[in-house]
Amino acid sequence: MFFDSHCHLTDERFREEGADAVVARARAAGVVGMVTIGVGAADAEAALAIAERNDDVWASAGIHPHDATGADEDGGAALERIRVLAAHSRCVAIGEIGLDYHYDNSPRDVQRRIFARQLELARELGLPVAIHSREAEQDTAALIREAAAAGVRGVLHCFSSGPALLDAGLEADWYVSFAGVVTFRNYEAQALVRAVPAERLLVETDSPYLAPVPHRGKRNEPAFVPLVAAGVAAIRGEEPEAVARQTTENARRFYRLGA
Ligand code: NI
Repeated sequence: MFFDSHCHLTDERFREEGADAVVARARAAGVVGMVTIGVGAADAEAALAIAERNDDVWASAGIHPHDATGADEDGGAALERIRVLAAHSRCVAIGEIGLDYHYDNSPRDVQRRIFARQLELARELGLPVAIHSREAEQDTAALIREAAAAGVRGVLHCFSSGPALLDAGLEADWYVSFAGVVTFRNYEAQALVRAVPAERLLVETDSPYLAPVPHRGKRNEPAFVPLVAAGVAAIRGEEPEAVARQTTENARRFYRLGA
């Protein structure tokens, strides 16, 4: 059994085929659960609709750092929409939220403000957060420490940062999720994959992006999460079945999905 802790079933690359067909293919591959990430209110509504009609799919709602500027307009109306959607019974996390200083699609101070406000929202609602961080290690680590001290739980999604952010996440007792990048021949952060305690480890596809080998460069989908789990297992020197079982248990605990 496998659990894809982070995918984007609402992506336009799945539209022609339809998300339900993609979910069916994942089930056939042994995937017992998926969390589809809602990036912005409209996307979160679409994600929740998929979760409503599929028992093994849950959704999240959050404002991506790329869109932080828009979230700051109209007196923060976009954040209020996220708050309403987050109350849905199938919404299991706030995310993905964070900081992206690589693309800098929104000014960094606005990114930090919108990130902090959503960490506060997660605290109020008692939901965990899914963190996107790119070239923003120090600022992400600082906000994570603050949030964790206030009782917020989270996952460093698609982890590709350095040891400083990993340490901040592990000190906060947060989870760390790896994606298909771990299967790439030029992947160099094996030590970080080994540094995560077994009970804090998650796997994801982040599909349709970042397809694992041998699908690299093509459209990714949740049915490929076993390849990610196998890649993580190889790096950690563990049995693929053990990693599959452990990461599935971890995802259910993290998202509070019950048995
Ligand atoms: Ni994502």
